[in-house]
Amino acid sequence: MDGFAGKVAVVTGAGSGIGQALALELARSGAKVAISDVNLEGLAETEQQLKEIGAEFKTDRLDVTEREAFLLYADAVQDHFGKVNQIYNNAGIAFTGDVEVTPFKDIERVMDVDYWGVVNGTKAFLPHLIASGDGHVINVSSLFGIFSVPGQAAYNSAKFAVRGFTEALRQEMLLARHPVAVTTVHPGGIKTAIVRNATAVEGFDNAALAKMFDTHLARTSAPRAAHIILSAVRKKRARVLVGPDAKAMDVLVRLTGSAYQRLFATVTRRLMPRPK
Ligand SMILES: NC(=O)c1ccc[n+]([C@@H]2O[C@H](COP(=O)([O-])OP(=O)(O)OC[C@H]3O[C@@H](n4cnc5c(N)ncnc54)[C@H](O)[C@@H]3O)[C@@H](O)[C@H]2O)c1
Repeated sequence: MDGFAGKVAVVTGAGSGIGQALALELARSGAKVAISDVNLEGLAETEQQLKEIGAEFKTDRLDVTEREAFLLYADAVQDHFGKVNQIYNNAGIAFTGDVEVTPFKDIERVMDVDYWGVVNGTKAFLPHLIASGDGHVINVSSLFGIFSVPGQAAYNSAKFAVRGFTEALRQEMLLARHPVAVTTVHPGGIKTAIVRNATAVEGFDNAALAKMFDTHLARTSAPRAAHIILSAVRKKRARVLVGPDAKAMDVLVRLTGSAYQRLFATVTRRLMPRPK
């Protein structure tokens, strides 16, 4: 893959999974990359691999929920490379728990990282992306930004919100004739640590869910996901569905309309681990 030679790309959550794979594939495609995460061990691993590729990069600890730090970080990346072309707002966390028993703070935490983290990153970098003359915002939502499932209200809310925010932004950039493309990413099950690292309400067996996710639901590797995402970025697509499961479920939800909710409630009762 080429096409990113000389571009400067920023990737949040680059210490693991999709973010790490994006940073490496971008570097192999000739981009200079700014990587960040709160997971410093993972970040060091990504950095090591970037060195082996021979890429130009900048590494920082950045918590995407810290707005002031994010604004300063955007200026620091601009100063370091002289321009910024792309931001991949990728950092994210998962949480499982029914609304009835989930404390407010857990819903807020997911919104802080998965939604506000994306808003912070978009707004911090937008002036630099516009100034670059060839900018691109790539926001990672989820298949769970297309339909909801029981136990995922917090995650569903954040990922639907990312989709709404990003689709509005795309239209604004078109209207204003700003040189900034905008892409929403909807991955299906990707083989990463996301569910293993997730938290859940008390009494929920997250290990059982992680096992089920790793064995049955995560069908696409992180490098494959990065490859699909970057192909869509090259084509400046509005939306990218990552993996055959994402494509199939998107069609199913379109065909069934709101009737999918009864269908998924039944399937969940039979197949998924539930709180005791
Ligand atoms: N894996 C999947 O099946 C899947 C499916 C749909 C969407 N996604 C989304 O893809 C994105 C990447 O997830 P992944 O699967 O690679 O998971 P992952 O857990 O492997 O990687 C996520 C990274 O984000 C980092 N992170 C978490 N909170 C952060 C914060 N506050 N500030 C900065 N970094 C933070 C983590 O430390 C981790 O390194 C997430 O937004 C996730 O919701 C993943």
